[in-house]
Amino acid sequence: MEMKKGCIFACTDKSFNDCIKHKVFGTNKLYSEKVFKVKKGDFLFLINIDTDILYGPFFAESDGGKNLVPQLWNGKYPYQVLVSQNGEIKSVEKISAILKKLKISWKENTISEKVVDILIKMLNGEIIDFENTSIPANEEDDKPKLESTTLWDYPKQSYGKTPKGNNKYPGVTPAFIIYNLIKRYTEPGDLVLDPMAGSGTTIDVCKEEGRRFIAFDIAPTRPDIIQSDARSLPVKDEIIDMIFIDSPYGDNIHYNDHPLNIGKISAEKEQFYYELEKVMCECYRVLKPGKIIAWLIGDQWVKKKFTPVGFKVFERLCKFFEPVDIIAVARRNQTSNTGIWHNRALKFNFYLRGFKYLHIMRKPESNTRSTKKSHRKINWTMYERK
Ligand SMILES: C[S@@+](CC[C@H](N)C(=O)[O-])C[C@H]1O[C@@H](n2cnc3c(N)ncnc32)[C@H](O)[C@@H]1O
Repeated sequence: MEMKKGCIFACTDKSFNDCIKHKVFGTNKLYSEKVFKVKKGDFLFLINIDTDILYGPFFAESDGGKNLVPQLWNGKYPYQVLVSQNGEIKSVEKISAILKKLKISWKENTISEKVVDILIKMLNGEIIDFENTSIPANEEDDKPKLESTTLWDYPKQSYGKTPKGNNKYPGVTPAFIIYNLIKRYTEPGDLVLDPMAGSGTTIDVCKEEGRRFIAFDIAPTRPDIIQSDARSLPVKDEIIDMIFIDSPYGDNIHYNDHPLNIGKISAEKEQFYYELEKVMCECYRVLKPGKIIAWLIGDQWVKKKFTPVGFKVFERLCKFFEPVDIIAVARRNQTSNTGIWHNRALKFNFYLRGFKYLHIMRKPESNTRSTKKSHRKINWTMYERK
């Protein structure tokens, strides 16, 4: 028999009957990725997490999708797959201990043919010799963890078998940040924009996670980045599902000699924020209402002067967007992360920059603002809020 990959769904006592009666398995946003990976004909299994029993085997009657049966579970589990089953439904008890022995979790996106084979054998009453059963490592083991707090700290720039961006590029973004953002705020197939793409970290993460992308830079480093000024993007209004931007933080890094490179302007000058505000205005124009823009930015301490670049950028972002959260991302690979600099910081009584801000903002749902570039004349209600 030709083996196919499979997927394990979870239900509770409450939702079990609906799954069987309506022949639909569903889950929430947290596990949406696995649903989109299900293809018609795949093996499916259902675990009742209240009773710790596995049921199956079932077969996917459709590819995984969103709201296939919208009214079911009052929209609580919109990521769904239609299901069929041959003959009686079989079951295996104490499944969590068995999955532990197999070193897999029902939360994983897909299960390999080998695991499908073992589960079917168990459902058929066969005894499995777990001691002598080896399960090949799952490709998802290479993926970053999803962050649950507002402090993100990464020891390296990239993850997985293929590079994401170029870790030699000045100011390259840790790929983990972009991974976390697109997993939380987009779905496979969504269109992600990076208006200042640098070495293309956003592109590489999007490609691997099945998101579409559009990337610009004033001085492109590779063919899939389009040459454009982020203050005037060749993108239609309201077509973008998420924006990630790691803009210059001032003139602390030399990116390139392009005259329109905003990274040539000092963060001590008002003009720096004025130019970034033009980028924000463009981002506002192209982003769909209700969608997320995440802006990575760091403060500056140069020649005994502190400039709170992160606060200043946040203040301007609030003219256009609603704050969702602020993440502190640990800064690790700084050129100043040396013994000499740490000693200087103590001796001369200043601090080395230990973190960057990741401002997560949302474009309001109600489109009360003009998308025209004359935004400065508009009386922003958000900005005036006390
Ligand atoms: C911090 S880097 C981006 C790093 C990138 N996320 C990566 O992982 O490689 C900032 C980028 O902004 C670009 N940039 C500066 N001014 C720009 C402008 N006016 N329009 C578009 N890109 C600009 C620079 O060329 C630089 O590549």
